[in-house]
Amino acid sequence: MALAVKAFPFTVVSHVLAIVALILVLVWTIHFRGGFAWEAVNKNLIFNIHPVLMLLGLIIIGGEAIISYKSLPLRKEVKKVIHLVLHGVALALGIVGIIAAFKNHNESGIANLYSLHSWIGIGVISLYGLQWVYGFVTFFYPGGSADLRRASLPWHVLFGITIYILAVGNSALGFLEKLTFLESSGLAKYGNEAFLVNFTAITTVIFALFVILSVIPQPCVQEDNHGDYSAI
Ligand code: HEM
Repeated sequence: MALAVKAFPFTVVSHVLAIVALILVLVWTIHFRGGFAWEAVNKNLIFNIHPVLMLLGLIIIGGEAIISYKSLPLRKEVKKVIHLVLHGVALALGIVGIIAAFKNHNESGIANLYSLHSWIGIGVISLYGLQWVYGFVTFFYPGGSADLRRASLPWHVLFGITIYILAVGNSALGFLEKLTFLESSGLAKYGNEAFLVNFTAITTVIFALFVILSVIPQPCVQEDNHGDYSAI
C-alpha cells in the first residue's frame, strides 16, 4: 500500500504531537496528581509512574521507532539499529510502567488484573516483546536467510502496526478508567483536570494516527519489480 505523497510532513506533525502529549501527561501527573515516587506512603505517587512510562515508552518512543525509517535521512543499516534500539527502550519503559501499576495495587491492597484495560495491557506487552525478539533474531542477530527475511517483513510490518494500534487503544482505555475512578471520588466532570486528561488521550490518538499516516505514503523498504518486499 503506497500513497503518492511524501511521508516527511506526517513525520514532522508526529514529532510535534509527541512533545505535546508528553507535556500534557507530565502536567497532569506532576501538577494535578502530586508527582512520582517508587517508595512512598502515598501510593498514588507510585501509580503516576504508570501513565507517564506507558505513554513515553510504548506510544511515543514506540511511534518514533515505527517512523524512524521515514523520518531519518540515514543509511538503511543505521536506521535498522535505531529502529530496534528505540523499540527496545520502549519495551523496557513499558515493562517498568506495568510493574509500577502492579506495585501500586499490591501496596494499596487492590486486586490485580480485574479490568479489560489490564487484560489488553498484558496482551499488548507480551505481543510487543514477542515482536521485538522475532525481529531481533530474524533481521539483526543472528539474522535469518534472505528468503526468511523477505517473507517475514510484510508480517513484521502488519503485526507491528496492529500491536501499536492495540497499545494506543489501551492507553485511551487507561485514561478513561482513571478519570472515571477520579470522577466517582468527586473530581469535577467539567473541571480543568478532567479536560486535561481527555485532551491528553485525544492528543495521543491523533499522534498515533500521524504515525500510521507516516508509514502508509511509501513502502517501508524499497520494493522490487514484483511489488514484493525486498530482504532487509
Ligand atoms: C499501552 C499502554 C498501557 C498498558 C500496556 C497498560 C497496562 C496495564 C496493566 C497490565 C495494568 C494492570 C496492573 C495490575 O493489575 O496490577 C494496568 C493498570 C492500570 N492502568 Fe494501564 N496500561 C497502559 C497505559 C495506561 C495509561 C495511559 C493510563 C492512564 C492513566 C493507564 C491507567 C491504568 C489504571 C487506572 C490502572 C489500574 C486499574 C486497572 O488495573 O485497570 N494505563 N495497566
